[in-house]
Amino acid sequence: MKKYTLGVIGGGFMARAILSGAFSKKILSPKEVLVCDPSTECRAYFTSVGADVSEQNLPAVQNCRYLLFAVKPQNFAAAIEELRGQQFPVVISIMAGKTIAGIQAATGAEKIARVMPNLPCSIGAGMSAVDASRLGNEDRNFVLGLFLSVGEVIETAEEQLNAVTAVSGSGPAYIYLFLRAFISAAMKQGLREEQARTLVFQTMEGGLSMAKTSPKSLDELIAAVSSKGGTTVAALESFARDGFDAAVSRAVAAARQRAEELSE
Ligand SMILES: NC(=O)c1ccc[n+]([C@@H]2O[C@H](COP(=O)([O-])OP(=O)(O)OC[C@H]3O[C@@H](n4cnc5c(N)ncnc54)[C@H](OP(=O)(O)O)[C@@H]3O)[C@@H](O)[C@H]2O)c1
Repeated sequence: MKKYTLGVIGGGFMARAILSGAFSKKILSPKEVLVCDPSTECRAYFTSVGADVSEQNLPAVQNCRYLLFAVKPQNFAAAIEELRGQQFPVVISIMAGKTIAGIQAATGAEKIARVMPNLPCSIGAGMSAVDASRLGNEDRNFVLGLFLSVGEVIETAEEQLNAVTAVSGSGPAYIYLFLRAFISAAMKQGLREEQARTLVFQTMEGGLSMAKTSPKSLDELIAAVSSKGGTTVAALESFARDGFDAAVSRAVAAARQRAEELSE
């Protein structure tokens, strides 16, 4: 029987987001968690929320049922240096670009789940894609439950994770880019910034809610806002002339290509 359910290597931004979701949804209690991080500030934070902490990573490998790697990919080699020769528990990795085969070769771990979460996990509205196919049912359910505590989860094959990275991983930035352009365009039409922000954000929220809940397809919803010769059609024709769809497609392809180049 292991002392802790979850050991975390690297208690930074994402680890805090995931653990605060897991604590608030009662997937885990702080006393079931050991967080390992060289940073004094980080350890003080986790002590303040009731978790145990360690400056070394070794106690997590030895005393935890699951081991979450939440260090930056470039710090992975240093993080496992002191763990050579250890018998690894079930490994959960959120490190971008670190493949299951690469983690297996570096650690000797047999059971590895790879997860690609995203930034809105920090407000409980995340999107995570999980390949837990090498885990048994109980372990797989633990991983899914952990990430469900900070948002939505889909299961994917590892081969799809670069595409996932290009969509939901990098995607929040595309949304912010569009919002910024939309607000700036609204201001060019004479609206004050706070008016523009309210109009754009609520239009985004309302449009998204309808897209998620309506039985209509996206094409039908576009048609529902467009009347022949009207304002929406004028805007849609302008988007089409500027190659909007192709620009989005090229951007997502570029992100996927970069994710592939960074995979190891
Ligand atoms: N942020 C995102 O939106 C996002 C989305 C998807 C996936 N990810 C993945 O999540 C992982 C963590 O990202 P993050 O944004 O949470 O990074 P972060 O805030 O930098 O957290 C990483 C933590 O690991 C610590 N650390 C460094 N070397 C260590 C070692 N040898 N042993 C133990 N801990 C060590 C760092 O301490 P110091 O600060 O003292 O170096 C830091 O506290 C990355 O692999 C990233 O690819 C992030």
